[in-house]
Amino acid sequence: MTTAAAALGSRKGRCLAVVLAAGNGTRMRSSLPKVLHPVAGRSLLAHAIASVTAAGADAIAVVVSPGREAIAAEARRILPEADIFVQAEQRGTAHAVLAAREAIARGYDEILVAFGDTPLVEGETYGRMRAGLAAASVVALGFEAADPTGYGRFIIRDGRLVAIREHKDATDEERTIRLCNGGIMALRGADALAILEAIGCSNAANEFYLTDAVEIANRQGLVCAADVAPESELMGVNDRVQLALAERLFQEKARTAAMRSGVTMVAPETVFLSYDTVLGPDVVIEPNVVFGPGVTVEGPAVIHAFSHLEGAHVAAGASVGPFARLRPGARLAAKAKVGNFVEIKNADIGQGAKVSHLTYVGDATVGAEANLGAGTITCNYDGFSKFRTVIGDNAFVGSNSSLVAPVTIGAGAFVGSGSVVTDDVPPDALAIGRGRQTVKDGWAKTFRENNVNKKHGR
Ligand code: UD1
Ligand code: CA
Repeated sequence: MTTAAAALGSRKGRCLAVVLAAGNGTRMRSSLPKVLHPVAGRSLLAHAIASVTAAGADAIAVVVSPGREAIAAEARRILPEADIFVQAEQRGTAHAVLAAREAIARGYDEILVAFGDTPLVEGETYGRMRAGLAAASVVALGFEAADPTGYGRFIIRDGRLVAIREHKDATDEERTIRLCNGGIMALRGADALAILEAIGCSNAANEFYLTDAVEIANRQGLVCAADVAPESELMGVNDRVQLALAERLFQEKARTAAMRSGVTMVAPETVFLSYDTVLGPDVVIEPNVVFGPGVTVEGPAVIHAFSHLEGAHVAAGASVGPFARLRPGARLAAKAKVGNFVEIKNADIGQGAKVSHLTYVGDATVGAEANLGAGTITCNYDGFSKFRTVIGDNAFVGSNSSLVAPVTIGAGAFVGSGSVVTDDVPPDALAIGRGRQTVKDGWAKTFRENNVNKKHGR
C-alpha cells in the first residue's frame, strides 16, 4: 500500500470491500474461471483486490460461486485474511453482495462493491468514491460509453442520481442516455443492509440488481451521487476480446508512466510490462522485450531487443541481450553483461562479469569481472536434484566448457576451452578436462588420395 493510500485509509472510517467474483463467465469459453485470467502477469481478481487495498479497505470479502475452489485459493494467496463467501445461486449483483451479509453486519462505516472482472479501476477512484460518502449514502461510478448497449443507464434529475436503469428494463428514451453504470458502488455502512435487503427481483431478468440500490435509497429519503471515470478505466472483461483490450489499456498506461519517469522505449508498443515491473531512470528498452512478473532494472542500463526477463534484478550499468533470457532468481550486479542467446536462472552474476554468448548459467554464483566464454554450460541438474556452481572473481572459463555441479572454480583460475570440469579448480590454477590433441602429419592427404583412387577403380 502506498503512503497516500494508507493515509486515506486512516482518515476515513473502517471500510469493507466486497469483491464480486461469482459470475459464470460463460462468454470466456474457458475451463479457467474468468477472474483468474491474467492481465499484465496477474489475475483479474488480483487487480481488483490490489485496487481496493490501495484505496485503504480495512477488510475484503470475496464472493465466489459454489465449487470454484481455485478462485477462493487465489483470493487467499493474495490476501490470506480475505473472507470468502459462497453465493449459492447466481441471482444478480445485489444477491451477490448479500452473500457477504455476515461481513457487512459486522458494522463498517463504508462498504465498497468491486467487480472481479473489472481490473483497471484505480485505487484513487475507489478512494474518491469513499470520500463521496461524506455527502451521500450511495455513490455510483459511471462513464460516458462510446456504445451504451447492454449497460445500466444513470438517470439524473436536478443534479441528483435518482435511478440506474438496466438496459433490458430501459425505455427507448432512457436508452439514449450515454452516462452508463460502471457497476462499482460505495455505500454508507449504516444504511447498506437496509437498502440491500429492500432490493427485489421484479425485472426483465428476474435478478436482484445492485443498481436498484439507487432508487431504493432515494425512496428512503437518502442522497445518491454519481462519480465519473473514463471508460478505459471501467471496462469489464466478459470475453477474450475484452481481455486483450484490458491488456492493451494496461500496457499503454504502464509504458507511458515508465517513459514519463525517464525510461527510453524505442518502440513502446512492442514492449510488454508486468503489473510490478520497476524500471529506473535512463533504462533503455529496445524493441520486442517482454517483462514477466518480478523484474527490477536500475538505471542506466540497456535491455537489448528480443529479451525476456522474469523474476530478475538488473543493476546499473548492466547490459542484457539481444535475445537474452533472465529467469527467476537472475541477479546481475553493476556493469555485468549478458549477451545473445544466454539464459540465466537463479544465479548471481558479479560486477563487471561477462557472459556474452550462447551460455546457460543456472544455480550459480559468478564472481566480479569473471568471463564465461561462448557455449559455457553449468550442468546443474542430474534429473533429481539441483546443484550449485561457484565461479570466483576474475576467473576465465574457455568456450564450450561444461561445469558439472557441484563444482567451484577458484578466483583467477582458468578453464581450458572445451573442458568438462567435474572437480574443483583452485584459485589461479589452470584446469583442462578434455582429450589431448594428436596430430598425424600427411594423414588427410593420404586419406583423400586413397578415396579418389577407389572411386576411379584404380
Ligand atoms: C453490471 C451492472 C450494469 C453495469 C455493468 C458494467 C447490475 C445489475 N448491472 O451488469 O448496470 O452497466 O455491470 O459492467 O449490477 N456477479 C456475481 N453474482 C451474480 C451476478 C454477478 O458475483 O449473481 C458478479 C460477476 O462475477 C461480475 C459482476 O458481478 O464480477 C458483474 O456481473 P455481470 O453479470 O457481469 O453484470 P453486467 O450484466 O455486466
Ligand atoms: Ca460484466
